[in-house]
Amino acid sequence: MCTVNIRLAKSGDMSGIETINSVIDYNNPKEFMAETIQARRLFVAETSDQAIAGYGMYQVIWGNTPVVSLLKVLPEYQRQGLGSRLLLAIEQHVRDRGFDVILSSTEQINEVSTKFHLKHKYEPIGSLQMPHGQENYMSKDLTNTGSAIGTVLS
Ligand SMILES: CC(C)(COP(=O)(O)OP(=O)(O)OC[C@H]1O[C@@H](n2cnc3c(N)ncnc32)[C@H](O)[C@@H]1OP(=O)(O)O)[C@@H](O)C(=O)NCCC(=O)NCCS
Repeated sequence: MCTVNIRLAKSGDMSGIETINSVIDYNNPKEFMAETIQARRLFVAETSDQAIAGYGMYQVIWGNTPVVSLLKVLPEYQRQGLGSRLLLAIEQHVRDRGFDVILSSTEQINEVSTKFHLKHKYEPIGSLQMPHGQENYMSKDLTNTGSAIGTVLS
């Protein structure tokens, strides 16, 4: 396996991000990706030959709660720990900014993502019935001092 560096994205990473979006398509507009890079909320996994193998990003809702909005690793780089490293980079980034809880979500039918989040100690907090199907929400306590749901509601 080649060396992979996790870092905040730059505008020059857009073509690599677009390549990933063409392979793992959730209909994510380029403008949205650009805004998130500008806000320093998008991390990329860059290989030693400068390929973008994956990315992860978050938004902040209600002005106080970070949410992992997209996390994608190219199929040929999956199951090598990159998704975990991207998620941990986001968690550390928001923790450093004073947030003590983070949310994420996944489609009910996405078993891989569900396993991935459980492995990272995300706890179910409810579901929304979306046009594409059921979206399951989860939270994680970043302080490791209490229940994730309690932290969200307090
Ligand atoms: C979900 C995703 C980001 C995981 O990235 P990844 O780099 O492959 O994940 P990791 O290698 O860090 O895996 C961490 C753990 O997740 C679980 N996992 C990951 N891929 C899995 C798979 N194909 N089958 C079962 N469990 C899996 C395992 O518990 C794994 O730990 P292990 O390898 O020690 O068993 C990746 O599969 C992906 O891009 N999927 C398509 C987009 C998507 O579904 N995004 C998530 C929606 S929020």
